[in-house]
Amino acid sequence: MEKSRGTSRRISSGSKKATSGSAVLMGRKTYESLGRPLPNRRNLVVTRSPVAAEGIEVIADLQAFDPDKVQGDVWVIGGAEIYRQLLPQCEELYLSVIPREVEAIHFSPSLSPDSTLPK
Ligand SMILES: NC(=O)c1ccc[n+]([C@@H]2O[C@H](COP(=O)([O-])OP(=O)(O)OC[C@H]3O[C@@H](n4cnc5c(N)ncnc54)[C@H](OP(=O)(O)O)[C@@H]3O)[C@@H](O)[C@H]2O)c1
Repeated sequence: MEKSRGTSRRISSGSKKATSGSAVLMGRKTYESLGRPLPNRRNLVVTRSPVAAEGIEVIADLQAFDPDKVQGDVWVIGGAEIYRQLLPQCEELYLSVIPREVEAIHFSPSLSPDSTLPK
């Protein structure tokens, strides 16, 4: 989601390597699918419910969330609901393309290697 380089702050969607040492922001369902906070990162979990768990920080009001108030980078790691709301604010996207057909029930906004971030 968000990235800091010197004094310029950026929002990005990123991979495991890129996010290490930064903050990761995810929806509550993605957090539950992971089953635990990701190590070596601040774990920001977006939910309207009063979730409390060791190693996570809850964001109840996504509209009021200001990535500039988080030290370092903030990376959006899903899921689809969160991508739909935050990709337009992202300045950088890390996209892995896996040449395989899989069945899915959740779909992120359509992206390709040539995509520009939606505005
Ligand atoms: N393949 C991949 O790269 C990838 C990446 C990430 C996730 N996933 C998968 O995607 C699935 C989850 O995606 P999803 O789209 O169903 O759910 P999600 O985006 O992970 O989480 C949705 C939840 O986030 C909270 N939320 C969303 N918008 C909010 C807002 N504006 N304010 C406050 N809370 C808000 C709500 O939590 P509450 O209901 O608690 O209020 C909502 O139910 C999982 O199966 C996960 O494994 C795949």
